[in-house]
Amino acid sequence: MLSQIMYLYTFIFEIYIALLYNNSMTFKEHLINSIGDSEADLLLNSLSKKSEHAVLLNTNKISDEEFLKEFPLVKPHPIVKHAFIYDKETYELGKHIYHELGYYYLQEPSAMVVSSLIDFKEDDLVLDMCAAPGGKSIQASFKMNDKGLIISNDLSFSRCGLLSNNLERLGIGNVIITNNDLSKTYLKYENTFDKIVLDAPCSGSGMFRKSDTMINDWSINKVYKYQEIQKELILIAYYMLKPGGTLSYSTCSYSKEEDEDVAHYLLENSDAELVNIPSDKCFYIKDIGIRLMPSHFSGEGQYIVQFKKPGSSKINEFNHINKFPQLVKGDKDVKRVNDYLFAVNNGLDIKGFNIYRYGVKVGEFKKDIFKYDLHYARSYAKDSFDIIELTLEELKKYLYGEQLNKINPYKGYVLLTYKKTAVDIAKTDGQVIKNYYPKGLRKKF
Ligand SMILES: C[S@@+](CC[C@H](N)C(=O)[O-])C[C@H]1O[C@@H](n2cnc3c(N)ncnc32)[C@H](O)[C@@H]1O
Repeated sequence: MLSQIMYLYTFIFEIYIALLYNNSMTFKEHLINSIGDSEADLLLNSLSKKSEHAVLLNTNKISDEEFLKEFPLVKPHPIVKHAFIYDKETYELGKHIYHELGYYYLQEPSAMVVSSLIDFKEDDLVLDMCAAPGGKSIQASFKMNDKGLIISNDLSFSRCGLLSNNLERLGIGNVIITNNDLSKTYLKYENTFDKIVLDAPCSGSGMFRKSDTMINDWSINKVYKYQEIQKELILIAYYMLKPGGTLSYSTCSYSKEEDEDVAHYLLENSDAELVNIPSDKCFYIKDIGIRLMPSHFSGEGQYIVQFKKPGSSKINEFNHINKFPQLVKGDKDVKRVNDYLFAVNNGLDIKGFNIYRYGVKVGEFKKDIFKYDLHYARSYAKDSFDIIELTLEELKKYLYGEQLNKINPYKGYVLLTYKKTAVDIAKTDGQVIKNYYPKGLRKKF
């Protein structure tokens, strides 16, 4: 019944929008309205070029130098530190063993500019409102050296799963994943977060080069439908922002209705102050905020604007690193949820949030046996276990699911490493290392 009412509501809303605006408008006409004739031409021509790809390094696991030794033909990203543009025909980075070990995250070149422009601090409390599959949160975590706390929220349960897999692989420890419609929760969190990232759902014109279907599906109705959602989300975001805190708003749409117009909407309906983003030759500035467009930058496109809430807020127990300790080595600060054990951040009472994942998953009780999780192995396990360093050949065998015949001085659980970075927690009797790598991840390299 509820879904029928929702359907009817959407249908009536679409008719209303279609009557209100000229729904027969083409994407090109719309673009000319947004950015003018010559910019629109440049942009449309650039859409026929090949897509660019980028990689952001997990500097906890690999340095720029080590990465460049293995992949010398990549180019430095023009804006983002520890990031590189690469050609998919030269390197299949998604299939490389370094990807499996969490040495990097693959992301669209303009999308990774959003978090690079935010001055994340190690003791920040961050909310990433529309976070999945996680690019903005992941970069925030790298910049915060895995400290502070990030609440990474997404409305879609299945996309929270993608985010969760990425955090595990990369060994990120300072993120709690939540699965909320924040319009039902935000009132509990007035003036709370130091940084808020609102990478809003949008009509997605910045993805046109990737998909013809998206171009054919474009309509001005869609743009206005998303604008409604964006306006609601940006006011919610601002309400939750701390005085002195920074709100970053971004979309991958080229439509001014979803970009500059939403930014103006916040300025007109709050005391928000615009933050000046230092200019760069890659940026195109139409009005307020910056645009990355394929005509000026080797990426698909992104609109980015930042705001500050006036005032300042003293460091309080809610956001001070010593008061909510990062977590959590050993087993004294863990929380049992059904059969799972999580390393949780005790300092934050996350009332009203549907927790998809508390911090780091330490492991799972299977009948009477406790099985350590890959996420724990990759993040906090380093100081708690004896370490066995693997050769590349042994690593490949292990990732394929084989047990290793390797004489070693240990009995019980050990942490396997490769080039000193964590691979997994496994069990040994001193002669053989049993394979504990998750079955779903096993593959041949
Ligand atoms: C542009 S994508 C986010 C990409 C992500 N920030 C990243 O960097 O990987 C927009 C996301 O918003 C989510 N979403 C849509 N409506 C939402 C809402 N009302 N609240 C929270 N998330 C929402 C979608 O499920 C989608 O994952």
